[in-house]
Amino acid sequence: MADLMNTAARSLWYILPSYVANMTPVLLGGGKPLDLNRRFVDGRRILGEHKTVRGFLSGVITGTLVGCLQGRPVSGFLLALGAMIGDAFGSFLKRRMGIEAGGSAPLLDQEGFLVFSILLAYAFEPLNWDAILLLLVVTPFLHKGTNVIAYRLGLKGVSH
Ligand code: CTP
Ligand code: MG
Repeated sequence: MADLMNTAARSLWYILPSYVANMTPVLLGGGKPLDLNRRFVDGRRILGEHKTVRGFLSGVITGTLVGCLQGRPVSGFLLALGAMIGDAFGSFLKRRMGIEAGGSAPLLDQEGFLVFSILLAYAFEPLNWDAILLLLVVTPFLHKGTNVIAYRLGLKGVSH
């Protein structure tokens, strides 16, 4: 039990910049879309209207700031950048599957940002496999929780 608490604390501390980055665009996003309104070869939008330049940059900045406060600025930046790239890549895959912007794609919506965060930051700051596993299990629930709160507060149109 003490082991589990230790792993939980370690993994949450590790991933905090990524979580903050991922939540930021809901509050600060909007404006020019990241794909500049362009379409892919399948005729659908590359990323869609919901991935914006401001959302992407604000996520990278807040996540990096969290990393600075933690005394690990480079990890913070890599985790935040990974989160925003993963989030955008998730949207890219959703559009290719014909899912409209804002539509749900289970697992991809909740874990895409997480996987990319770890991929980008791992070489610079490794994380044990038990901690990674715990994050993969816990994140969908935390994601659902924060989305329900954002929905209730009227920040988000859908609760997934
Ligand atoms: N957002 C943004 N810029 C980003 C990412 C997100 O402005 N780079 C904002 C958008 O207002 C978006 C909201 O944050 O609607 C929630 O993001 P998310 O749930 O990741 O996007 P979806 O609305 O589900 O769109 P998609 O289907 O493309 O994933
Ligand atoms: Mg979504």
